[in-house]
Amino acid sequence: MNPTYQQLLDKKKKGIPISMVTAYDFPAARIVCEAGVDVLLVGDSVGTNVLGYESEREVTMDDMVHHLKAVVRGAPDGYVMADIPYGGASDEDRAFRNARTLVDAGAHIIKIEGWEDKKVIVESLAGRGIAVCGHIGYNPQYHGPKGRVFGREPEVARQLLRSARVLEQAGARMIIIEKVPEEIAKIVTENASIPVIGIGSGRYCDGQVLVLHDIIGLAPRTFRHARQYAEVYSVITGAVQQFRKDVEEHRFPAVEHSSHVDPQVADTVYREQNDGGSQ
Ligand code: KIV
Repeated sequence: MNPTYQQLLDKKKKGIPISMVTAYDFPAARIVCEAGVDVLLVGDSVGTNVLGYESEREVTMDDMVHHLKAVVRGAPDGYVMADIPYGGASDEDRAFRNARTLVDAGAHIIKIEGWEDKKVIVESLAGRGIAVCGHIGYNPQYHGPKGRVFGREPEVARQLLRSARVLEQAGARMIIIEKVPEEIAKIVTENASIPVIGIGSGRYCDGQVLVLHDIIGLAPRTFRHARQYAEVYSVITGAVQQFRKDVEEHRFPAVEHSSHVDPQVADTVYREQNDGGSQ
């Protein structure tokens, strides 16, 4: 059983790290849930990791709902966060409509990329009863697919701190902080009373989020901010290659993979087919 939001908040207060991992489909949701991860994230990274899109910007609400529903079926007890895709929170009504759609599809909290510029949207959603997670630092939807660090310059660092404060005051329940120097992410985390979850933002956030495909080695490339715990790509490739060879060399299917009939039945059918009818 995954935690409730209150339990996540308690973890922050007690200094117990929170874990979050992406899941885009039924089997991944089961795995992430069974592994005891606190939060499943149906991120718009589904676009580049699963759908073959060039960028997160191509992800639609239909894509999100389709994948979110599969995740909820795989992790019915999980605490599930879902992204509003690019352009889906451009005004208050659109943001609410899309957030409502994601909540109806099973999300417990929805995530919106954007810094303090998202204050009004977050305020409006929170005011209408939607649990919202902000996403500051590197925002793939706005900064493009090539990640870079935000917050090395004092003015940008101050802007990050201000954004976290503004979003929390607007009613956000959580913040994801992506690709921010550890020292700045630590100050953001210490100054927030809601959980701040880092990705590529060092060791001192309240929790960490990674993309499942990066953890298991299924992504097309590796990233400095992630740790790869398995090499599933080569395991799957090896298995599929072995299947192909077994087919080509008549080792699959074997007798145990086949079903059989009484030889007399086979014989009758054979003669009907080849001798022009039953005798
Ligand atoms: O879409 C996603 O997977 C994300 C994480 C990288 C935080 O937003």
